[in-house]
Amino acid sequence: MQALAQDIGLELDISYLLPELPLEELTGWHREVDRAHTLLMERSGPGADFLGWLDPLALAPDGLLAEIEETAASLRENSDALVVIGIGGSYLGARAVIEALGGPDSKPVYFAGTNISAAYHLDLLRRLEGHRVAVNVISKSGTTTEPAIALRLFRQWLADRGGDAASRVVATTDANRGSLLNLARQEGWKRYVVPDDVGGRFSVLSPVGLLPIAYAGIDIRGLVRGAARVADAVSDTSLERNPVFCYAAARNALYEKGYCIEMLAHFEPRLRFVAEWWKQLFGESEGKDGKGLFPASLDLTADLHSMGQYAQQGRRMLIETFLVIREGEPELRVPAEADDGDGMNYLAGRTLEEINREAYRATALAHREGGVPVMSVLLERLDAERLGALLYFFERACAVSGYLLRVNPFNQPGVEAYKRHMFALLGKPGFEEQTNALRQRLESAAAGGTVRFSP
Ligand code: PA5
Repeated sequence: MQALAQDIGLELDISYLLPELPLEELTGWHREVDRAHTLLMERSGPGADFLGWLDPLALAPDGLLAEIEETAASLRENSDALVVIGIGGSYLGARAVIEALGGPDSKPVYFAGTNISAAYHLDLLRRLEGHRVAVNVISKSGTTTEPAIALRLFRQWLADRGGDAASRVVATTDANRGSLLNLARQEGWKRYVVPDDVGGRFSVLSPVGLLPIAYAGIDIRGLVRGAARVADAVSDTSLERNPVFCYAAARNALYEKGYCIEMLAHFEPRLRFVAEWWKQLFGESEGKDGKGLFPASLDLTADLHSMGQYAQQGRRMLIETFLVIREGEPELRVPAEADDGDGMNYLAGRTLEEINREAYRATALAHREGGVPVMSVLLERLDAERLGALLYFFERACAVSGYLLRVNPFNQPGVEAYKRHMFALLGKPGFEEQTNALRQRLESAAAGGTVRFSP
């Protein structure tokens, strides 16, 4: 059976959930799904203050889109490349879309503040030497360590090179508070707002994602249109006609049967960051209260030659969701060779698109036969509208799935633990009292010792 949303160009194929999850069992989830949907629509579930992404047209109204397009055009005019400074939800959505839809004619967009690696940042700064660089620093809190460090590096780098840097820096941050807001005001930077009611991982279709995406030259109106079409279609609460609900219910039904890892597998390297974005979306939304499917990704066919063995025959705790582009790939054919030394002439003249499609069909069947329940999200083609539909499909499914799992899908209390330790170890003002206690805990935790080779 396929849950259809053909006019949107997105379908969910659930045929390979059998025999682990029979259709009657899946559709038996409809009451639970109705409950989750009602919690969302009535804004009465946990985290209801963070539903600003539910209506894509309200999140990105026409006026805002026009302003973003204008800012992007002026930045494009005045720079050779954009550096996006942000981490987690403040950069993954933009990177996902830019890598999926960007092409050789796209304006270059680089990412900084996604790690604390000196080598990474030095390499980036060296690569940008001699170029006119624009910066979009994105941080809702304005206090996140990684982007704050990167911003200092880039401010110094720009200042050392003189010129009118202020006109090429844009800050996307909270409307009313935070150190980034203060800095942006002081420096006279152009500003965009991260809405109060939108968490980072749901922010790709707000200025957080849309400005860098527009800078790259990608159709942001198409993205929003695609998302809005799914938002409209999702009101049909029947599982058979609603891929969003069907996907959310299937992953919860399988989770209850003991499956604990979901692999998102794709056959296009340019979808790698869609998978990274998806991992954050589901991992941060559901991984709490000791629950949740662990989201992993497979970059195929490359990972068939590494993780493929485990997927086929390892411990049976995996479910797999394929992300498939059905058509519209550029044409590239396998050349014929006179002596056929490698025996590949049986593929001569066939397109890579066709071979890739058969690789998908073969892998899905093999994994299914190996005991992995499989679903496939089928995108008619990869363009702005279909990608917007896909992003919103996952956002909406994640919210429903989180409510089915009975967690608050919109908070992330767990990410604070390491930060408190790191601040104490680094001597951040306000954390002094914890520093000594933490050092002692580190020492006793290390009491087990290290294992060394004998000299
Ligand atoms: O999804 C989230 O909320 C997080 O990934 C944040 O986006 C990330 O931690 C960055 O936070 P901030 O935008 O406040 O710098």
